[in-house]
Amino acid sequence: MKRKKLRLGRIIWVLICIMVLIYLGNFILAFNYDSFRLKQLNYSKIAIEEIKKNKLEDYIIAKKKYSKTLEKALTTKQFIAKNIDLYYSLDYRDDDNFITNINSLADIGYDKTKIILIFKHLNSEEIEALTKLPLTNNIEQYIVFDYFKVDNLERYLNYRNKNKNMELEKIITHVNIGLDYPYYGKITYVDDYDKITVLTNKYRQLPETFVPKNLVEIDKAYAPQTFQLTKIAGEAFEKMANDMKKNDLHIQVVSAYRSFAYQANLYNKYVAQDGKTKAETYSARPGHSEHQTGLAIDISGNNYAFNDFDKSKEYQWIKDNAHLYGYIIRYPKGKENITGYQYEPWHLRYVGVDIATYIYNHKITFDEYYVKFLEQKK
Ligand code: DAL
Ligand code: ZN
Repeated sequence: MKRKKLRLGRIIWVLICIMVLIYLGNFILAFNYDSFRLKQLNYSKIAIEEIKKNKLEDYIIAKKKYSKTLEKALTTKQFIAKNIDLYYSLDYRDDDNFITNINSLADIGYDKTKIILIFKHLNSEEIEALTKLPLTNNIEQYIVFDYFKVDNLERYLNYRNKNKNMELEKIITHVNIGLDYPYYGKITYVDDYDKITVLTNKYRQLPETFVPKNLVEIDKAYAPQTFQLTKIAGEAFEKMANDMKKNDLHIQVVSAYRSFAYQANLYNKYVAQDGKTKAETYSARPGHSEHQTGLAIDISGNNYAFNDFDKSKEYQWIKDNAHLYGYIIRYPKGKENITGYQYEPWHLRYVGVDIATYIYNHKITFDEYYVKFLEQKK
């Protein structure tokens, strides 16, 4: 009887042990199976540890795909569970602040669609700058423009508030030029003054000491006195004037390169003569004149008064042909609000044939062209 009891007790013990072993075995197997599947998906050991710590193995295994972005979030310990879908949706970028940027954008309140667009259009530095700003409801409308500048975002929003019917493309262009400030209200110091694409206007100042290289004298056939332009602009001008002559059209130089000091005298003279407000509609402050670049020239037809140049047949030809020589009419009619100057049919600016042709075909100003196509590429 005693022996029977003893045997039964032993059997029960053995059964309990077997059950415990089966249970533990299953547990270990399941545990290793998850690791195995995650490894198969390509996740690293550290990532797998994090996945398990966050109890995400089922979710991630069910996705059946590897995300390098998720891997990075996990291994850098920047993983935030509520952003997991975002990590899956964003292609990996090898930037130090990649995951921080994702998390910050989500924190600010940008939704997945917008974050995807932000990553499509902006680089990591720009995104970081965006994360320092409050949520912008319609950010997706702005970032599609190549010349959108995060640093100007607040200004775009303010300018748009004041110009409710203006197209967004114009809002961004105008603000990038500086037009949301009064003339001379925000100055950028120009550093690309040796390029034929240099832009100077009421917001962009040349150094006082800047004198262009390669100034050459313009052929006296077209100049009553000594005038200079940079070599490339001078040669293009002479070619144009020669071709005009063949068509019995005659132009003369009225002004070309002007030094900072010369412009200062001229500007002061006009201010004394007409008052500052009026003078500034036609005369640049020293450092802001295109004439200092050696790329601008004022011309007149032989038989016409300077101010009536646009009534001449010479102007009619210039208007439609100057771009073929690399020149544009820099201060066109109807664009006074952008250039900041009255219409000056006589003031030509050399920018090269390609840019001049684009500006001619699209009827825009060089100020607009510059902020749209040149500024970012410096
Ligand atoms: N007349 C042009 C704007 C100048 O002074 O440069
Ligand atoms: Zn001029």
